[in-house]
Amino acid sequence: MNKKKIVILTGAGVSAESGIKTFRDQNGLWENHRVEDVASPEGFARNPDLVYDFYNKRRRQLIECEPNAAHFALASLEKDFNTFIITQNVDDLHERAGSTQVIHLHGELFKVRSVDDPYIVMDWKKDLTGKDKGPDGHRLRPHIVWFGEAVPMIEDAIDVVRQADLLMTVGTSLQVYPAASLMHYADSNIPMYYIDPHADRNYNGQLIKCISEKATIGVPLLVDNIKKGQIF
Ligand code: APR
Repeated sequence: MNKKKIVILTGAGVSAESGIKTFRDQNGLWENHRVEDVASPEGFARNPDLVYDFYNKRRRQLIECEPNAAHFALASLEKDFNTFIITQNVDDLHERAGSTQVIHLHGELFKVRSVDDPYIVMDWKKDLTGKDKGPDGHRLRPHIVWFGEAVPMIEDAIDVVRQADLLMTVGTSLQVYPAASLMHYADSNIPMYYIDPHADRNYNGQLIKCISEKATIGVPLLVDNIKKGQIF
């Protein structure tokens, strides 16, 4: 029998309890920087060293972080369900928890790419500077989708959401498009859940059941109910 397909859309909130700060919970500043200075092609052109330094700090921080109970609960679904994670996060905590089908919409912190060719991508865990070069001889930049840039993985993500038998959205403010629009591609007859301490404030549509809890509480509870057969 074909396994049911569970699709989970995650945002910064799923990693908050692992010690990684969310984007919009601190007055529009991200780790004390204006987002447009450190997460836009214009910011990188203006001050590349600031951007390199910013992502070097994020990379070093990520090395010290561990997946939390929400990441592990989601990974455990793979045993009985065809489980896909679509994440806006650039951390690798879903993978470290054991998830194997993860789509990163906004890139990955442990990867870098040529400034000249987005398809020249390399694994990278150390600091990156303007002196580092790719195999094409060009400078390297973080493999992150910045504001104003295309989101190449969105088509794959839409395909996955269209086939979902259950959709779970966790820890995102649903303010950044196209990620925030993904849930609209799901079949409106499937069960849909949204777990976030501010779920009720962020979302007031009819279709989705809001669970206003932190990820480490809400996700394991819902995953347990799914495994017990209480959802389908
Ligand atoms: N558990 C679950 N959710 C939480 C927790 C927690 N412990 N703590 C905070 N949250 C929720 C907040 O209530 C908020 O709704 O996480 C959400 C974080 O929202 P944002 O900071 O806007 O993060 P996200 O939605 O992932 O942002 C999307 O914006 O700048 C960009 O590219 C960046 O991928 C990012 C995108």
